[in-house]
Amino acid sequence: MAFRTIIEPFRVKSVEAIKFTTRDEREARLREAGYNVFQLHADDVLIDLLTDSGTGAMSSMQWAAIMQADESYAGSRSFYRFRDVVSDLTGFRHIIPTHQGRAAERILFHTVLQPGQIVPNNNHFDTTRANIEVEDAEAVDLVIPEGRIPSAVHPFKGNIDIAALERLLAERGDRVPLVMVTVTNNSGGGQPVSLENLRSVRRLCDRYRKPFFLDACRFAENAWFIKTREAGQGHRTPKEIAQEMFSLADGCTMSAKKDGLANIGGFLAMNDDGWAEAARNLLILTEGFPTYGGLAGYDLEAVARGLEEVVEEPYLHYRIRSTEYLGTKLTESGVPIIQPPGGHAIYIDARALLPEIPPLEYPGIALVNALYVAAGVRGVEIGTVMFGRHPDGSETPATMDLVRLAIPRRVYTQSHIDYVAEAVVDVAAGRARLAGYRITEAPAALRHFTARFEPLG
Ligand SMILES: Cc1ncc(COP(=O)(O)O)c(C=O)c1O
Repeated sequence: MAFRTIIEPFRVKSVEAIKFTTRDEREARLREAGYNVFQLHADDVLIDLLTDSGTGAMSSMQWAAIMQADESYAGSRSFYRFRDVVSDLTGFRHIIPTHQGRAAERILFHTVLQPGQIVPNNNHFDTTRANIEVEDAEAVDLVIPEGRIPSAVHPFKGNIDIAALERLLAERGDRVPLVMVTVTNNSGGGQPVSLENLRSVRRLCDRYRKPFFLDACRFAENAWFIKTREAGQGHRTPKEIAQEMFSLADGCTMSAKKDGLANIGGFLAMNDDGWAEAARNLLILTEGFPTYGGLAGYDLEAVARGLEEVVEEPYLHYRIRSTEYLGTKLTESGVPIIQPPGGHAIYIDARALLPEIPPLEYPGIALVNALYVAAGVRGVEIGTVMFGRHPDGSETPATMDLVRLAIPRRVYTQSHIDYVAEAVVDVAAGRARLAGYRITEAPAALRHFTARFEPLG
């Protein structure tokens, strides 16, 4: 391209109005929501960066595919189209549709885990961890040391620590039924994993005879980072890189709400015939017949088309650059974020920004709530509220207290992002006025979704 400006590789065909509210209105809505932005009515949010999951805009080709879907209960044409696209991309023998990623996780872990077993990962996402712990097994995070330091710059900060993984396999390998790696590493800042790291995991898994599964939600964004950052990969297409990533694994869980560019959907895929049979039996019990797995035929069509669009270079170029754009703006204004910016989100280091608020008073919640009140922007805490409570009921600070601003795919324009940056910088400038929170009500698991809070001070 002759010009430096990277443009959105699409034009807009349909628009959705967003609602402006006053500061007083937002304060009232937040109080009613128990100071938990998950409990807000989405209409009261101006720019919603709660998640990049299921919030993307579908293309005209996806909507067209939806109209052509086959809603047959068994053997739907849309299933075969979905299966063929996923097989071509991943190479796995068994493709099992599920309604979203956590359903794939639940089915996988309920099928293969026994109480007391251990699942290593770079960083488990919250639903992944919860679906392991509910089987009375242990989820162990083994991301490289740089991945635990927000300011540390490393091109593949999502890499798993190979030496630590080897130690675990050597010392307690009899309790490890499979090894997982999450691409990109959402809980660690949306950071990528290198091909070299995945190849090393493969070698270890061969040596210790362990199956290797990818949590593949953002496989395409990971492939783009490999293309642009890993030596010798620049000439390959993102799809070729993704195909190699999958070829190194024995299976994957996938939420198509991310790099499936769909509003709902997911799959579990694997090569092992015995595990696949057991997984399909459980699928029938809880999701549906194996050719729809809890999805409509039109969802399968949307995912199939989305998986083709997501590996297109102009899309990935724009996607990764637009996230980086927000990261650069915040960094230039002195707001501490996880460096370098991740693929799908910017993670503000709330612990560093608000050092007077101790982790057990939830600096992430303080920042999320201040951002909503100031600007109507909704982010999410990824820190002590999300990860600090343990199965025995005790609570300790999480490794980091972050606020994630996740960017929905193909939804917001550059001026929306400029507004978000301005809002964050404004809140950061008034940080001395922010106070912590205490929890007044919370369930035992996944408390961040429904907990209620009270401001301190
Ligand atoms: C890395 C990772 N794994 C699993 C999931 C769960 O997927 P879903 O929300 O579709 O259940 C998510 C969702 O955000 C994720 O980011």
